[in-house]
Amino acid sequence: MCGIVGYVGKKEATPILLDALKRLEYRGYDSAGIAVLTDKGLSVYKTEGKISNLESKLPDIKGTCGIGHTRWATQGAPTTINAHPHVSGNIAVVHNGIIENYQELYDELKSEGYEFVSETDTEVLAHLAHRYYKGNLVAAVIEGLKKVKGSYAAAFICEDSEQVVAARKDSPLVAGIGNGENFIASDVTALLKYTRKVVYLHDFEIVSLSGGNIEFFNFEEKPVKKKTESIEWNIEAAEKSGYPHFMLKEIHEQAISVHDTLMGRLSELGGDVMLSEVTLTREEIRELERIVIIACGTSYNAGLLGKYLFEGLAGIHTDVEISSEFRYANPVLDETTLVIPISQSGETADTIAATKEVKTYGCRTLAITNVVGTTLSREVENVVYTMAGPEIGVAATKTFTSQLIALYLLAVHFAKARKRMDVDRSKRLLVSLKQLPGMIQQILNNKETILKQAKRFSNARDYFFLGRSLNFPIALEGALKLKEISYIHAEGYAAGELKHGPLALISKDTPVVALATRGLTYDKMLNNIKEVKARGSPVLAIASMDDTEISKYVDAVIRVPVTDELLYPVLTSVVVQLLAYYTADALGCPIDKPRNLAKSVTVE
Ligand code: F6R
Repeated sequence: MCGIVGYVGKKEATPILLDALKRLEYRGYDSAGIAVLTDKGLSVYKTEGKISNLESKLPDIKGTCGIGHTRWATQGAPTTINAHPHVSGNIAVVHNGIIENYQELYDELKSEGYEFVSETDTEVLAHLAHRYYKGNLVAAVIEGLKKVKGSYAAAFICEDSEQVVAARKDSPLVAGIGNGENFIASDVTALLKYTRKVVYLHDFEIVSLSGGNIEFFNFEEKPVKKKTESIEWNIEAAEKSGYPHFMLKEIHEQAISVHDTLMGRLSELGGDVMLSEVTLTREEIRELERIVIIACGTSYNAGLLGKYLFEGLAGIHTDVEISSEFRYANPVLDETTLVIPISQSGETADTIAATKEVKTYGCRTLAITNVVGTTLSREVENVVYTMAGPEIGVAATKTFTSQLIALYLLAVHFAKARKRMDVDRSKRLLVSLKQLPGMIQQILNNKETILKQAKRFSNARDYFFLGRSLNFPIALEGALKLKEISYIHAEGYAAGELKHGPLALISKDTPVVALATRGLTYDKMLNNIKEVKARGSPVLAIASMDDTEISKYVDAVIRVPVTDELLYPVLTSVVVQLLAYYTADALGCPIDKPRNLAKSVTVE
């Protein structure tokens, strides 16, 4: 995830900026840069790769005011040119977030004669600040940002004076108050070595650091009174924003990551999905005869939901294949097939090998991945990035729900191109998609119920997760999560299939999690619940808030907000993730680094 730092004080800025950036390394990044004000003007250095790379290229820079950045590529490859800071005349900027109206601003600024050198959306921020700068950096930043739609934590520096100005909307920004020196950062971890007195900025607030002063403004340039907080966390706790594990932090980030996957991609007006990165024309989408999704593990489970969506909404026959099997299966493929590899890391050897193989058949290819510039993204024609930010816990959580969202977006896009979805339906679905972040937050606010149930069953040796239709992939995912972090044996099953064998394993010692949200198969799911109840299993249902019936048949119910029937998998995912997390925590397992597992599996 991108990181921002800024410093104004009496000490040399460069070592402080580099040290603060290093404290953000754990968040993941692929390039880094700094801008420091020296007596010869702005000194800007940036490079792809590690901060140590940058450090080795730096001359002795003298200056006590500067900004720095670690970039985790989203728009534009991870190159030196795309690294921040970006410069326009006498102004430099570093930015976290996404500028949604980038194209509009780019066209406008270009017509005024501004030159663009990078592929990033951030460059428009530098030009906007430059366009409005008349000696007052705070005013210029405000004027510039008023033109921007999207999210940002951005820090600006100008050649004219020792000042750093930073602002935020929908992206974290914190100011640190020192003794005769002040700081800004995107993450409190960067500041803890220097100060524990911090001020968190809210959306549409600006901070200005100059000399020993720190001032806060709103977007009307009126001063804002802010509360100073004292941070008690140690650095390790701060990296996890106070959560005991990265996995729990990442589960909690899902209201934001789902929002980020959706951002800039919905046009509710016409009920359209805007995926400019997909170069398949409407005609080509209409001509597709088949989709093949290839993936491993959690990404495979996401792919299974894709099958329901592409077939149900867009009417395209879809197969979902385990990458390591598919490669050696003599697949029948041709140019009317679209292959969609899904991989969080973009470096999974099995998925990359299978992708290389399908290209020899002339298939079209479109990857869903979370990391820009990886091997997978270079192998395919098109990439839809999930924008979930780096995931550090080995167990995939936020990247899974973002993969689901990417699949909804693609399915609607394809369905509309194939005239299988009318505007009314797509509009309703897009509105419901937009409501998901708030609903995820509701589930997170109610996590105590999940914790209680997890503790209740944490001594079980075997667990079953049952689901039907759209919830079947989430039953698989719930079982996978529980297995990998708690080491409890768990099976995910299509509920209707249970009676064809596994029912023999059901007893009072096998808790069953029944994913029973409203929809086509709800009544059938109730029957399956009765089947396992009759054999003595304790049943924990995950059901919608408006369901007054289910509690009659089960031992406990975890509720999720009412949404479009198609979208429940996103909400039930969050519940099964928390259930797995709290179970593993109750058992004292090393949650972020489960035994025998690695975050990125780069061997076949
Ligand atoms: C489970 C998990 C793994 C990965 C799998 C594929 O929590 O993280 O099952 O999903 O190794 O990884 P990617 O998505 O990076 O290809």
